[in-house]
Amino acid sequence: MKAKIIDGKNIAEKIRQDLKSKTSKLKEKPGLAVVLVGDNPASQVYVNMKEKKCKEIGFYSKKIILPEDTEEEKLLGIIDELNQDSKIHGMLVQLPLPKHISESLIIDAILPYKDADGFHPINMGNMLIGKNIILPATPKGVIKLIESTGIKLEGKHAVIVGRSNIVGKPVSILLQQKNCTVTMCHSRSKPLEKYTKEADILVVAIGKPRAITKDMVKKGAVVIDVGTNKVYDKLVGDVEEEAREVAGYITPVPGGVGPMTIACLLENTLECMELQKRTRL
Ligand code: GUN
Repeated sequence: MKAKIIDGKNIAEKIRQDLKSKTSKLKEKPGLAVVLVGDNPASQVYVNMKEKKCKEIGFYSKKIILPEDTEEEKLLGIIDELNQDSKIHGMLVQLPLPKHISESLIIDAILPYKDADGFHPINMGNMLIGKNIILPATPKGVIKLIESTGIKLEGKHAVIVGRSNIVGKPVSILLQQKNCTVTMCHSRSKPLEKYTKEADILVVAIGKPRAITKDMVKKGAVVIDVGTNKVYDKLVGDVEEEAREVAGYITPVPGGVGPMTIACLLENTLECMELQKRTRL
């Protein structure tokens, strides 16, 4: 069996085209602000990509780059300004932040209805109770990729490897909403392969290159690889490429989840704007 490749690049392109067309009919451009503190090379690439894709679809984009030694207080001031800025409908602060800045304090400072990442505790809490207002971008993209296969999700066994706040935990909530039976695995799950081999849907987000080998995958499974690890200058996922010989559907790295995260972030920005208009904020 050879897995069908889930083409995230193509699905993301369709989402962006749809957003571009919607934006062209609007009187006001949706605006996204992206803040980067420091010079982490991977973060620089992501932030530049977010700005580029924003402009391509006709959004207003504001990029703010701050030095590594920026004080927490200064960053909080910038978030306040963006909270007040009527041209900005969504914003995000690229993670990770330098150690001297509290990520949770920064996320808490973003107005929940301008939180394009969907990381604010209010947005996370709403998702937990089934009120999907602004969903975190990567988990939202993961669900769209799974749904693109056309498989019925109800009653399927979904196994998630990785329990991060930005991927694993929210994906588990969203798949439960889709009536999957969900098993959460993490670094202490033993033996990991016992669980992964039972997965009809396997989502891997642990940031360990090729940690999931083909013998750990159930025949015909849908495999979503969230990992983007640099190994000798090559981008590799958390799932080894040979898993394609066993899986039914699988995402490539690059070209799977990565492009979807940005497309969903842009979608969230438009949704933030609509939310602000509807509630007259
Ligand atoms: N760092 C890695 N992924 C993300 C993301 O989705 N949003 C932000 N703000 N930072 C990240």
